[in-house]
Amino acid sequence: MLARKLLSLLSIAGLAFPVLVFAQAHDASIANHQPHYYDAADFDIDSANVNYADHIAPILQRSCQSCHRPGGGGPMSLLTYDQVRPWAPVIMYRTAIRDRMGAMPPFFVEKDMGIDGFKDDYSLSDVELALIQAWTNNGALRGNPDNEPEPLQFSDGIDWALGEPELILRSSDQTRPAIGPDWWGDIGLVPTGLTEDRYVKSVEVREVNNIPVEESTSTVGGRYVFHHMTYSSGILNEDGTAIDPSTRVSWPIHEIGRNADIFSEKAGRLLAAGSALHLGAAHMHSNGRETTGHLEFGITFFPRGYEPEYRHNGPRTGNGIDLDIVPNKAGQEVHNYVVLQQHTKIMAFEPHLHAPGVRMCLEAIWGHNNFTLNCVGYDHNWVKQYVYEDDKAPLLPKGTILHTIAYMDTTAANPNLADARNWGGAGRRSVSNMFIDLGYSVNLTEEQFQAEMASRRALMEDRNDYDPGCPLCWAPEPVYSNVAQGND
Ligand code: HEC
Repeated sequence: MLARKLLSLLSIAGLAFPVLVFAQAHDASIANHQPHYYDAADFDIDSANVNYADHIAPILQRSCQSCHRPGGGGPMSLLTYDQVRPWAPVIMYRTAIRDRMGAMPPFFVEKDMGIDGFKDDYSLSDVELALIQAWTNNGALRGNPDNEPEPLQFSDGIDWALGEPELILRSSDQTRPAIGPDWWGDIGLVPTGLTEDRYVKSVEVREVNNIPVEESTSTVGGRYVFHHMTYSSGILNEDGTAIDPSTRVSWPIHEIGRNADIFSEKAGRLLAAGSALHLGAAHMHSNGRETTGHLEFGITFFPRGYEPEYRHNGPRTGNGIDLDIVPNKAGQEVHNYVVLQQHTKIMAFEPHLHAPGVRMCLEAIWGHNNFTLNCVGYDHNWVKQYVYEDDKAPLLPKGTILHTIAYMDTTAANPNLADARNWGGAGRRSVSNMFIDLGYSVNLTEEQFQAEMASRRALMEDRNDYDPGCPLCWAPEPVYSNVAQGND
């Protein structure tokens, strides 16, 4: 029971002391990673009986097979017992490092503090880690094959993770040589063909290229030429050569390995009549074989007539300029502060660092309160966006100071680093540094802010219930007089 006792002690301590103490005390250096190994008995697991058919296969189906299958992007298949068994010790280690660089599945939110409530969270629970560990340590037994769950059905080739889109927009073809320098640039406009304004519910971007699906590579980047694409949309001018800057709407970045975006029911994004996507900043790279590929933007819409309640607001925090990262040093911290000018609901957290990055934390400072909203590990092989569940998303009053903390490790223990001996400033290449939260939020009026908090309060038992994403949930509602608003 020790693990559980420790956890409950931690959560009690988290209430009594500023949470910041934990955020800063967490050791983000790679050499000091502590895998999460558990004693099966703490979870009342009978180790000798843990087997593939009953316990492990369901975990792999839920959290691993979408990638670890032919064409799924993972380096090996984990679909059958024979495929999985030789990997048992590696699986045990990669899952136990949980939220650190290299962890599997790649979902790096630290579970021991902050908000627990993300969409599409396929991370493993403590019990699941304990099961994998007990199974591996007891010889990775198969169990009764009749008990194995029905195999999942995957279609061939590259799927749309969100299902068939309503509108697919295609970029021009781009060819990269087998070996060559990285390339940045504008790859032009893609007219949407829309004749009426529509609000977008989801957008998913995929690269389609001429690398055979069955050929595997040891890195995700080895299958693709588009490293990332920053793009926007807007209404096309009459001759179709440019978009009107005053109508520009920005869209979440496309990056290799990044998930699709599903916008909140209340904050659909406008794709206007007569608009085009402007693929303004592509970063392309060579991957070892000459490759021709294009991007496809798969879009679904809210029904006609839909109007968003909230307006979305772009990336908030970070500092991509004043970076001074010294060589060969773990635990380097970079801080950024920004004061929210409006009541804000943070919809998504997307830590963006480069090769030296190992962790990012987001804190909200309001009055005397200092809340750690979330800390996540970072692995530059994966650029993940963590989208909050609607009733967990941080609701922050204007005046809140958002504090972002990045942790860098430039020692040779960081496998993503090209060379541990060099100083690094800010720059667009992965060997230089970045420090941004690419997530997004919405602005709320006073009325919307109070309404959001009221529905959050309705989910809590009483005033002692604590929601780290809602610092003002139990504060008295302000009373506004006409006089105070200058309406007399
Ligand atoms: C989103 C896609 C994705 C998911 C989900 C995923 N993996 Fe992976 N996995 C990869 C990729 C890509 C690599 C190669 C890059 C790396 O090693 O980090 C990898 C590497 C691995 C390796 C190391 C292989 C080696 O050569 O040493 C193991 C073990 C592994 N995954 C197990 C798992 C398990 C177990 C799960 C589920 C609990 C899982 N993965 C979920 C994509 C994924």
